[in-house]
Amino acid sequence: PPAPPCTLVVFGVTGDLAHRLLTPALYNLSRWNLLPDDFALIGVGRNEEGTTQALRDDLTAAARAHAAQKDDGFDEGAWQRLAGAVSYLVGDLEDDATYARLAERIEQGRGGRGAHGGVLFYLAVGAGLFGPVIRRLAAAGLAREEGDAWRRVIVEKPFGHDLASARALNRTILEVLDEAQVYRIDHFLGKETVQNIMAFRFGNGFFEPIWNRDHIDHVQITVAETVGVEKRGRFYEPTGALRDMVPNHLFQLLALTAMEPPTSFAADAVRGRKQDALAAVRPLSGEDVAENAVRAQYRAGMAGGRALPAYRGEPGVAPDSSTETYVAMRLTIDNWRWAGVPFFLRTGKALARRDTEIAIRFKQAPLALFRGTGVQHCQPNWLVLQIQPDEGISLQFGAKVPGPNIELAPVEMRFSYADYFNVKASTGYETLIYDAMIGDATLYQRADTIEAGWEVVQPILDAFAAEAVPLATYPAGSAGPAEADALLADQGCGWRPLA
Ligand code: BG6
Repeated sequence: PPAPPCTLVVFGVTGDLAHRLLTPALYNLSRWNLLPDDFALIGVGRNEEGTTQALRDDLTAAARAHAAQKDDGFDEGAWQRLAGAVSYLVGDLEDDATYARLAERIEQGRGGRGAHGGVLFYLAVGAGLFGPVIRRLAAAGLAREEGDAWRRVIVEKPFGHDLASARALNRTILEVLDEAQVYRIDHFLGKETVQNIMAFRFGNGFFEPIWNRDHIDHVQITVAETVGVEKRGRFYEPTGALRDMVPNHLFQLLALTAMEPPTSFAADAVRGRKQDALAAVRPLSGEDVAENAVRAQYRAGMAGGRALPAYRGEPGVAPDSSTETYVAMRLTIDNWRWAGVPFFLRTGKALARRDTEIAIRFKQAPLALFRGTGVQHCQPNWLVLQIQPDEGISLQFGAKVPGPNIELAPVEMRFSYADYFNVKASTGYETLIYDAMIGDATLYQRADTIEAGWEVVQPILDAFAAEAVPLATYPAGSAGPAEADALLADQGCGWRPLA
C-alpha cells in the first residue's frame, strides 16, 4: 500500500546523492504506486538563483538519465505525479531563519492545501552538518511529534569518523530526538540480496542446524570493486577503505551472517540480535593488529577494462598519500555459536572483479573412508551468498568423476535470482525511504550498533595511524596485495579467487 501522507524534506537537494540515487528511488516509488497521494517534497539548497521550476527540470533530467542508463523506459505519468509535488526552498543550513521558513512551507502543505501527516527529513549533506542541522531543526520546533504528525530524520553516512566522533554525534542527536525518530542509513541494507540473508537462514530448515562452530570452518566476506576512487579523492583521502566500508557495510553483512534468530521481524527484535553479534566481535588489541589486518593502496594498472592511474595520481589525492584503498582482516566472535571460527573480511577499490559475497566454508569430511583410493583431499564445501552482481546463492561440493577410479572434482549447484524472479531495476534506496515513511526501522542502524562497529575498528585505525601496519601495494586490476594471503595461512586454503 502507499505510504501515509507525508512531506519529504531533502537537505542538499542539489547534491550528488539527491541526483544519482534519491531522485531515481522516488521515481521508482511513484511508478510502483507507493508514494502517498498527499505527498510533498521540499528541496532545500543554497543556490539563491534556484527556483521550483529549475529544481523540477534538474531532477527530471536526473530521473531520465537514470532510466536511460538502466534501459528501463520512462513512465512520464509517474514522474509528473512526483515532479508536481516538488518545491524549492533556498536557505543556508547554518541560519535559523531557514528553518523558520521551512516550518512555514511545511505548514502550507502541498499547493498551499495545508500539511498532512508526517515529515521525513533527509540529510543528504556533508557529515559535518548532521549535528548542526538536527539541532536547528529541533530548536525550530520541527522535531516535535503530535498524533500522526510524526517527525523522522534520515542520517546518511559517514556516521562519525572514529569511535569518539560517532559517540558524540549520537549524543548530539539523542539530546533532541528520540531514538525512534532517527533513521541511520546503510544503503547495503536496502539491497534485496542482503535482506535475503535473513530469509535464507531463518525461513529454511536445512542450514541453520549446521550454522555454527561445529560445522563451519571459517567465513570470508568480500566487497570488491573495480572502480578506483574516481572523483571522490577529497572525501576519500581522510577516509580510506577501512572507515568507508567496514564499520558500516561489511559489519552489516557480518552481523546478518552471525546473528542469532530474532523472535520476530520487529525492528528491535532484529536489531537487538545484530547488536549482540557485533558486540561479541573481539576488538583486536594494539599488538594484534599487524598480525590480523592488512592495508594496501593500488598502483597503476588495468581494472574493469580501463586503465587506472595509481591512487596517488588520482585528482584530490596527495602524491605521497598513505590512505589505504584496500583492507583485509581476521576477526573472531566471542560467543557460543562462533568461538574459534575466524571471519575474514576484505574490501578494496580497483580490484580484478566487482564482487560482493559471503562465503561459508564448511569443515572437511573425514578422509578415512577414502583410504586406499588415492583421494588425497576431499573437495571443500562452500556455501556462497552472492550479493552483487549476479545475485544468487551457490553450493560447491565434490562429486565423483566418472570412470573406474575414485576421484573427486568440485561441482556447483546454483540459484540465480534472475531465473526465478522479475528483478526490478532499483537503487536499493526505494525500500529504505518507503520504510522510513511507514515507520519501520528494521533496515536502519541503531545507535548502539554503530558504536559497536566503531569499537572494533578503532584499534585498527590507531594502528594504521601509528604506522604499525605497513602500507602494502597492489596493481589496479589484481586480486589485492599478496600480504593479505598470510591472514589465511592457518586455514589450509586461500582467499576465494577474484581474478
Ligand atoms: C559507499 C562508499 O558507501 O558504498 C563507496 O562510500 C562505495 O566508496 C559504495 O563505492 C559501494 O556501494 P555499492 O552499492 O556500489 O556496492
